[in-house]
Amino acid sequence: MAILPIRVFPDPILRRKARPIKRVDDSVRTLADDMIATMQNARGVGLAGPQVGELKRIITIQVPEQDAFAMINPEVRNREGSRQVMEGCLSVPGYSGLVTRSVKIDARALDVNGGKFKLSAEELVAQAIEHEVDHLNGIMFLDHLIAHEELHKVGVSPDEPHWHDVGYTVYAQHAPTLPQDFQMVEVLNTVARLSQLNAESSMSETSYDLSDGAHEPAVHTHSDD
Ligand code: NI
Repeated sequence: MAILPIRVFPDPILRRKARPIKRVDDSVRTLADDMIATMQNARGVGLAGPQVGELKRIITIQVPEQDAFAMINPEVRNREGSRQVMEGCLSVPGYSGLVTRSVKIDARALDVNGGKFKLSAEELVAQAIEHEVDHLNGIMFLDHLIAHEELHKVGVSPDEPHWHDVGYTVYAQHAPTLPQDFQMVEVLNTVARLSQLNAESSMSETSYDLSDGAHEPAVHTHSDD
């Protein structure tokens, strides 16, 4: 088994949709074994194909006191309830955020022998499956944040000045309803260095690193700046 390199946000592969696996063969079993080893090595609860550079619909799950398992072409069929949970991701190291997840889900998938199976999962297993199936569709937990203020650098207070320095575009709130606040409206391969702002700065002083260089983000200054 091999430990695979884990792709880190904003690697564009994390925003692409993974393809169904047509045949569960030895190459898929090897990938599943490698993903489980990689997930366990990183002490993750789950891992999805795109996170190791494979745009294939395969996820692995590892929760405490249960054997790790792989789900091939997984589908979430039913979702029940909702709860707010702190969540992190091996592709967003050092951050966690508050998201809404289902209390219970029903899912189905193929196992590593190509057999169909169904499972009902609650709590952490349900959360992990929802999180990993999202990865197969290019969705990250950052997209589910209840508020951008709820993204925390692990071990660092959100009041500290550097916690905004993650890769996403931030648009200033134009309406005066939240005069000192910003609203995250879209996630792109962009780094906004908001920590370089201070109280006297205007948004135009914010620097952006656009990984594709194709377009400038629309940045509006506050009317009260
Ligand atoms: Ni993740």
